[in-house]
Amino acid sequence: MSEVSIDVHRDGAEVTDALRRDVREGLSAEVKWLPSKWLYDAQGSALFDRITGVPEYYPTRAEREILRTRSADIASTTGARTLVELGSGSSEKTRLLLDAGTAHGTLRQFVPLDVSESALAASAEAIAAEYPDLSVRGVVADFTEHLDFLPGAAPRVVAFLGGTIGNFLPAERAKFLASVRSVLATGEWLLLGTDLVKDVGTLVTAYDDPQGVTAEFNRNVLHVLRTHLGADVDPAAFDHVAHWDARQEWIEMRLRARHPMTVQIPGADLTVRFERGEYVRTEISAKFRPEGVRAELTDAGFDVRHWWTDAQDRFGLSLAQVRD
Ligand code: AVJ
Repeated sequence: MSEVSIDVHRDGAEVTDALRRDVREGLSAEVKWLPSKWLYDAQGSALFDRITGVPEYYPTRAEREILRTRSADIASTTGARTLVELGSGSSEKTRLLLDAGTAHGTLRQFVPLDVSESALAASAEAIAAEYPDLSVRGVVADFTEHLDFLPGAAPRVVAFLGGTIGNFLPAERAKFLASVRSVLATGEWLLLGTDLVKDVGTLVTAYDDPQGVTAEFNRNVLHVLRTHLGADVDPAAFDHVAHWDARQEWIEMRLRARHPMTVQIPGADLTVRFERGEYVRTEISAKFRPEGVRAELTDAGFDVRHWWTDAQDRFGLSLAQVRD
């Protein structure tokens, strides 16, 4: 079996500190909010995996369709020696890229990066067992904070899939793309998945599925507050809402209080009051237009070499190269 190593740039105590800070800031704001990364503990990641199998949640299948048809192009265009995957999760779509890269003969190393050490260790071991010729070097880190240690021989392809870039606010997006640019050398690559603007019905149903899996995923962030900060919040006291903001062109997930309540969060030394109908924003998921993606990548210092969509134009995949 090939060699696996894991670099830890974030440990459990630091994660709880960051959660405490985010909860104090977000839940004392005028309009309450929490960063969406806190949706993904082990339970949240498992729920997200279930969402990807829900018929109404189309992005995963649409992106997989593009990767199935374009992975060989990606391998030959980039000649990548290293594939870095940001927010790798279960790395399922990654296998299409690894298959193409190893078949093309240039790929030597896979670098999955994730905040969850347990998820990362499991997927890194599995990939290493399946691809004996690849060296696998996992990195435990929060890619929203710093990326200045990305290992791997050039040319690297940094894959940021699933449309997760849509979870950043526009200003955060620009900062993130600039930070990816800054850790890469001229000629290296970014492979970026972006969900596209489409009719409101399709979008809202994708984020409020009839089986209620997304609702359960959303409420899971309250379980995270219970477990890690001792919050006495009752998840059943909140409704799941998927709201389309037509001006910003993003879906906003919210948790809306069914009745007035006071929540104690001892681990954050905080008491939070909710009026009936008051909500916490738990995620934004921005939807893009092709020209917007191109403009943002260009502004960040990339040249877009390829733009692909699925047959139904639901999802876009860009292959962009760092320019001089
Ligand atoms: C994995 C972050 C891209 O925004 O579509 C799925 C997460 N939220 N359903 C998305 C999610 C609600 C997903 N990302």
